[in-house]
Amino acid sequence: MDKIPHEDQLTYPFPKNFWWGSAASGPQTEGAANCDGKKPNIYDYWYSIEPESFHNQVGPEHTSDFYHRYKQDIQLMKETGHNSFRTSIQWSRLIPDGVGEVNPKAVDFYNGVIDELIANDIEPFMNLYHFDMPMCMQEKGGWECREVVDAYVNFAKNCFQLFGDRVKYWFTFNEPIVPVEASYLYNLHYPKVVDFKRGAQVAHNTIVAHAKAVEVFKKLNIDGKIGIILNLTPSYPRSQEPKDVKAAHIADLFFNRSFLDPVTKGEYPKDLVEILKERELLPAVEPGDLEVIRNNPIDILGVNYYQPRRVKAKEEQVPAGAPFMPEHLFDPYIMPGRKINPHRGWEICEEVIYDIMIDIRDHYGNIPFFISENGMGVEGEEKFRNTEGFIEDDYRIEFIQEHLKWVHKGLKEGANCLGYHLWTFMDNWSWANAYKNRYGLVEVDLKNNFKRTIKKSGRWYKKLSDNNGF
Ligand code: BG6
Repeated sequence: MDKIPHEDQLTYPFPKNFWWGSAASGPQTEGAANCDGKKPNIYDYWYSIEPESFHNQVGPEHTSDFYHRYKQDIQLMKETGHNSFRTSIQWSRLIPDGVGEVNPKAVDFYNGVIDELIANDIEPFMNLYHFDMPMCMQEKGGWECREVVDAYVNFAKNCFQLFGDRVKYWFTFNEPIVPVEASYLYNLHYPKVVDFKRGAQVAHNTIVAHAKAVEVFKKLNIDGKIGIILNLTPSYPRSQEPKDVKAAHIADLFFNRSFLDPVTKGEYPKDLVEILKERELLPAVEPGDLEVIRNNPIDILGVNYYQPRRVKAKEEQVPAGAPFMPEHLFDPYIMPGRKINPHRGWEICEEVIYDIMIDIRDHYGNIPFFISENGMGVEGEEKFRNTEGFIEDDYRIEFIQEHLKWVHKGLKEGANCLGYHLWTFMDNWSWANAYKNRYGLVEVDLKNNFKRTIKKSGRWYKKLSDNNGF
């Protein structure tokens, strides 16, 4: 074993007890989609009617088979230096009909995962919703329907009661804006509605569901922390000209502050409300909604950071009568010389992670947070396999290191960041992209019975965690 260097031999030492780990989700890793009483979620259903919408027509049935292999996988988490790991509880597994009976097989499975993590000194972080609306709930109207909000809160309560004696970090939603964008605005995912106002209703109802779940958590007096995981895409203007700066501010309101403000400050940003009101796009708000949002701020925030958003003042004419899109108020800006991950098409700009940290420090009361996702998806990684049989993903090591340098700087300047979770532990199934882009520290070989092999980045991550820095 390598000798652990003393803290002052490291250029980038991290605080004691910093969380090193990764994030994943139930629907993307468990597989066993039709096993032991689980019923379909919207992705299982969408695949059954439109398999061609998924990369190489690979569906969610098996994903990475974590359901049957979690013990072996948790050993690999140890070998890759995890002291913490986030996954999600699938609503359609735990309460297959959305409401009513709890599935005992699901309880056994999640108990097994939680206990195995704890037995291996890996702190379990549990998320309650990762885009996986049970199909029976979607049939009722999904997040547009208040009955579904109540059903979700009941599901959350069951999770707290069943697992809250051991799980200390809870998250109500992962990236709740993604279903709004993908399923109600941009025609990407099932149910492929394109209607801003309905999307706004989905967003509001999700925030109410979140706040009600936080309220239940507090009432149950669970010994733990509760929060939400948001994907933040800071908006940068093309120039400091007022019209560009205004465009960036508007994009920021729609894509960041719309969720960040209500969950931390207990209210929607006033200028966003104004923009929607002027256009008659405000969602229906029921009596009590704003109170429950105001009274239930989070304890901890998860920040998923992948890329910034660059915008300029609107130049393109919006066609008359076109249904409203946030993009009617600004144009995307392609910054010359930007660094791009060609596989995913996302910009790589490491220092933005620092800007987020400073923004939370200065404008959100320095609330405790952690980087809950950050990662690099690459297609065709097999070509980097070395003669010893493992993938040499130096680009991923560099990607993590370059981001961590900025996290380190943010920490030195007083940001309250508690850890770093990579997306993701092992290659997993990613919605319509299926297994196109690989993000894992551990390779999953689909052609070879899901064989797991730790990549070079996984070996490096172990050292990073053992040394608590680099
Ligand atoms: C994150 C999501 O935003 O991005 C994950 O939380 C997703 O669920 C990940 O898998 C990567 O997405 P993609 O589309 O590049 O595979």
